Amino acid sequence: MKSDILLELKKAGDFVSGEKLSSGLGITRSAVWKYINALKEDGCEIISVRNKGYKLIGAPDILNKYEIMNGNTSEVVGKKLILMKSVDSTNEEIKRLALKGEPGGTIVAAENQTAGKGRFGRSWASDGGGLFFSVLLRPDLPPCDIASITLAAGLAVCLAVREYTKTDARIKWPNDVIIGKKKICGILTEMSAQSDCIDHVAVGIGINVNNPCFPDEISEKATSLFIETGKMINRNEFFGVVIKYLDDILKSFFVSLSVDDIKLFKELCATIGREVTVKRTAGDIHGKAVDITASGELIVEDNGKNIIVNSGEVTVQGIY
Ligand code: BTN
Repeated sequence: MKSDILLELKKAGDFVSGEKLSSGLGITRSAVWKYINALKEDGCEIISVRNKGYKLIGAPDILNKYEIMNGNTSEVVGKKLILMKSVDSTNEEIKRLALKGEPGGTIVAAENQTAGKGRFGRSWASDGGGLFFSVLLRPDLPPCDIASITLAAGLAVCLAVREYTKTDARIKWPNDVIIGKKKICGILTEMSAQSDCIDHVAVGIGINVNNPCFPDEISEKATSLFIETGKMINRNEFFGVVIKYLDDILKSFFVSLSVDDIKLFKELCATIGREVTVKRTAGDIHGKAVDITASGELIVEDNGKNIIVNSGEVTVQGIY
């Protein structure tokens, strides 16, 4: 209810009477007053004037379900959204929920992660204006097709960033989203499977949204939407756009990545045409990334020979 009142005040942008709030939301005037006080305790600046009502002057940058889902038409991804103040890792929370029977499509987002995880066993700094969330999927796919889920998620985030910020966001294969030479989004996909079928997948997404700066060790490699646009981003609105694209691309995905999605992915992939090094236990591959296969693998040309790469850590010349 607190979030409903906040949304009404935000939508109005002006005074809203206590009467209008109470009748619109079906609660008493004293309940409205109680929730207004609770919003003030959360850090919202709200003024109240006799005969005029309440006006929102400023609200902290806190995730709010109603603003995120405002106008949302999700069919699968984001049909259910769980917001948490703090959690060890949203991927871990999704995995716990999956074991209790949570349906595919549920999203868990947190303001803060105490043990945020990155790829290759790294940690993922999880405070300071970022967006941290995971999507639970139960795709009808064999485990070998997991890689394309990650590509699809990267494509969805890239398209959302392009639409919302009008920046030239691109994908660094397989799924980092970059602006210029720096990373703004990382994706960690974890799966639980039998030998021939996937039980569930946690697609964990971390986006640098309003981070004002980064520690020296990563400032050459990382950027945020705030740094790139010079403007504070409304994380709720932006998150809504990301969910829209994730639902668009992933809901149809239970079969396989479409030809159109692969075409779009290639157009936005900054890796193609560059010299790359792929770290693999069987030996590193050095060469030029020349194409993406229909199932999303990277094709690297090494001394006239095409090598198909479906995993591994890829360093791309000219990008962080
Ligand atoms: C990477 O190394 O690029 C992947 C980073 C993935 C971070 C996200 S934040 C939300 C989700 N929860 C985690 O613990 N990790 C992912």
